[in-house]
Amino acid sequence: MRLNRGLKLSVLLAVAVPALVALTAISTMADSSPSPSGGPAPLPGDPAKGATLYAANCTSCHGASLGGSIGPALNPIAKLPGVPDSLDPAFLISIITNGRKHQAGDPGAVDMPVKGGNPSLTDQDVKDLAAFIIDQNRHGEPPLSANELAKRTILWVGIGIAGMVFITLLLAQYNMRWIARRAAARRR
Ligand code: HEC
Repeated sequence: MRLNRGLKLSVLLAVAVPALVALTAISTMADSSPSPSGGPAPLPGDPAKGATLYAANCTSCHGASLGGSIGPALNPIAKLPGVPDSLDPAFLISIITNGRKHQAGDPGAVDMPVKGGNPSLTDQDVKDLAAFIIDQNRHGEPPLSANELAKRTILWVGIGIAGMVFITLLLAQYNMRWIARRAAARRR
């Protein structure tokens, strides 16, 4: 009778724990990528690669979190006179590739150097950088805030602990059954 109840409990756990894990995982994923259902135009490149290239080539003038310093802010992107849409991929690719001479009315006081001063950037690198800037302006958030990172760490550690508790309970069940069987055998 007692064993039977234990079995039911472990069956319940076997269903509930994976379901909980799956649900939490799905909800975090949904959180991290607000699905662009029928929404914005595709990015011109890979924003993750763009982020790395940005960190290596652009932060000195545009700031680590794109807030701007010597150069204008890139998120939200500053409006330059004579530029109708600063987030147009063609404009971004062009200004990163060719640079821009400082003009009257522009924010800042220096020129934007060709390829940010790194001639080894390829056309694909430039597209990835443009994708990163557009992506940042859409999300309005730096790649992964410390807060977000902490939340996810806590989540996954929690899932790990739940999994271990589950396995321990399961093993305990088997152990109890084994002891009961031994006791029954001895009684015979
Ligand atoms: C030496 C400093 C410097 C570096 C390094 C630099 N920029 Fe710039 N950038 C500027 C300045 C200054 C401007 C504004 C030029 C002007 O006055 O017209 C600018 C303008 C821009 C703009 C247009 C912004 C707008 O509001 O429309 C983009 C996009 C841009 N830079 C991207 C980049 C990228 C990507 C990199 C790295 C590959 C980079 N920059 C590296 C100084 C820099």
